[in-house]
Amino acid sequence: MSGQPGHTPIVVAEPRLMRDTILAACRAGRRIGFVPTMGALHAGHASLVEQAAAECDDVVVSIFVNPKQFGPREDLARYPRTLPADLALVGAKGATWVFVPEPSTAYPAGHATSVVVAAPAADFEGAIRPGHFAGVATVVCWLFNVVPADVAYFGAKDWQQTVVVRRMVADLAIPIAIEVCPTIREPDGLAMSSRNAYLSPEDRRRAVALHEGLTSAAERWQAGDAVAVVEKAIRAALRSRDIPVDYAQVVDTDTLLPPRPGAAAVALVAGRVGNTRLLDNIFLPPRP
Ligand code: PAF
Repeated sequence: MSGQPGHTPIVVAEPRLMRDTILAACRAGRRIGFVPTMGALHAGHASLVEQAAAECDDVVVSIFVNPKQFGPREDLARYPRTLPADLALVGAKGATWVFVPEPSTAYPAGHATSVVVAAPAADFEGAIRPGHFAGVATVVCWLFNVVPADVAYFGAKDWQQTVVVRRMVADLAIPIAIEVCPTIREPDGLAMSSRNAYLSPEDRRRAVALHEGLTSAAERWQAGDAVAVVEKAIRAALRSRDIPVDYAQVVDTDTLLPPRPGAAAVALVAGRVGNTRLLDNIFLPPRP
């Protein structure tokens, strides 16, 4: 039953069959890892599947382009869909099952329930993309019901998403552990993202400014500079490559509120590179 590198995973579309399969594996004493995705998989997703395969007996990957987390003017229709390549990649990394639900099973006729996580979803992406995190939380809650795994793996690149999901899991007592895995980067530092595929060659070159800004922010942080100086370093890097800044802010890692003295923080950045919004962040360790 367990996935082996190079093996083709078992594709399941029916939620009930998926759930029954996972419950049977749990009853057999197997530890189940879950990697929720929207497909268009890259090395960042591959590393999540690899980590899940290293820590669990079986791995489920879901591939579902969730319409509810796209705004009316966003890129749902042109979001990259690469299922054959995705199946090959997750099979090679050791996935046992790939769950590919139809939108009509995630959102049956008459669907009327939304999961709204308030505080950590309010600012940053939540302010720029109203309704986005309700869409994320609603589908992730549904996925956690259909795939009752032991542990779910999320990438640190979407830091606010990880905070929102952890808040939801705690508040709704969903019995799943959340593991946040390091961001995987291109050689020049650009964080891997399915949206990088939209960048023109020139925009791709400019996009490195996000990582450059975060790196100098981390240096300023370590040097003991004020938060405003740390944030200014990020904005300056983006401005130097003509990238409009949506936000560049240092916040508490768990609440996304202003950082607490002596505690770890995270610097969040989002900018518009051509027509593509890119996000990134860097962990800032506690300082005296
Ligand atoms: O990060 C993503 O790919 C999506 O937001 C997620 C968690 C799969 C929910 O659709």
